[in-house]
Amino acid sequence: MRSIHVDTGVADALAAFEMPQRLGFGVLMAPVMYRCQYQDGRWWDAELMPYGPLQIDPAAKVLHYAQEIFEGLKAYRVDRDRAALFRPQMNWERMNLSARRLCMPDIPRDIFMQAVQTVTAYCEDFIPRNSGQSLYLRPFMFGTQPDLSVAAANSYSFLVIASPSEVYHSGSMRVLVERNDSRAAVGGTGAEKVGGNYAASLQSVQATLAKGFDQTLWLHPSDRRHIEELSGMNFFAVMEGELHTPALSGSILPGVTRDSLIQLARALDITVHERPMDIDDLLALIKSGTCTEAFACGTATIVSPISVLGDADGQVYELPDTPGPVARQLRQALLDIQEGRGSDRFDWMSPI
Ligand code: COI
Repeated sequence: MRSIHVDTGVADALAAFEMPQRLGFGVLMAPVMYRCQYQDGRWWDAELMPYGPLQIDPAAKVLHYAQEIFEGLKAYRVDRDRAALFRPQMNWERMNLSARRLCMPDIPRDIFMQAVQTVTAYCEDFIPRNSGQSLYLRPFMFGTQPDLSVAAANSYSFLVIASPSEVYHSGSMRVLVERNDSRAAVGGTGAEKVGGNYAASLQSVQATLAKGFDQTLWLHPSDRRHIEELSGMNFFAVMEGELHTPALSGSILPGVTRDSLIQLARALDITVHERPMDIDDLLALIKSGTCTEAFACGTATIVSPISVLGDADGQVYELPDTPGPVARQLRQALLDIQEGRGSDRFDWMSPI
């Protein structure tokens, strides 16, 4: 195990931490964070320190050229005596795919696992225990080299912060189809978890919220017909009891929850179709009653039913605003594993 320096302020930060009644998502930050720095071609020793502001050079590459990547994963208690992380290996692997896309160094497995396990272990008493609640962990890495040339940095910080959280979106979601803007480009970074993808989505997200919807539904950036994803969530629909989700197109983020639901559905004998999904076909199938459920999934939101799909021409297509039978069954099966009630038949849980 790589050595880790525990800052003398950590004990005081833990002792001073108070959990409020209402948590929200990603609002309350856990009192400690992990940092490991990369310089001169190698990773140096890690630190566990009180959560707090970072010092950063104003010329750091990340502030000018957005050389930043992140992940999201959760640690669960609820019906567990000790905390357990859900599929951290998948997040580590995806983080390194993102790192390679932005010309950043790979994060060694021992550093990533040490980071998420240490933060979880120190925060174990602050992991909320109602179903749907968890400790949301946010690993991220950014280029720190102070130099304005457009080239990959030669120094990086990798951090993990955490937030005791509720689900990202409770209740059903109203979703607006985006017919003009794109969140990702063909050949761009849509399949990686880079901060810039989310920055590119903000203009549309703002307009979506202003129109009374909760989430933007993105279409393929060049054909503008095929469904991609919501901002930070993957998309599923149910037709005649079968599950349909857009096939990974190269500009869709391969979600860990997406992959988990597909595996769970197949184990529950639900037929799954990963295929290009034309938005106009889907809207027609909702109208005719063939499509009976739509839902979003992701680490932060788990499974959130979609009750309305709004189109740019003002038409709205309605679905039940409570989770349908397939969404309910999959959400429960997933939470049973994560929260410690069901058998971990896929070996997904990683106890700390
Ligand atoms: C996650 O589900 O972990 C995400 O990264 C979505 C987020 C942007 C809230």
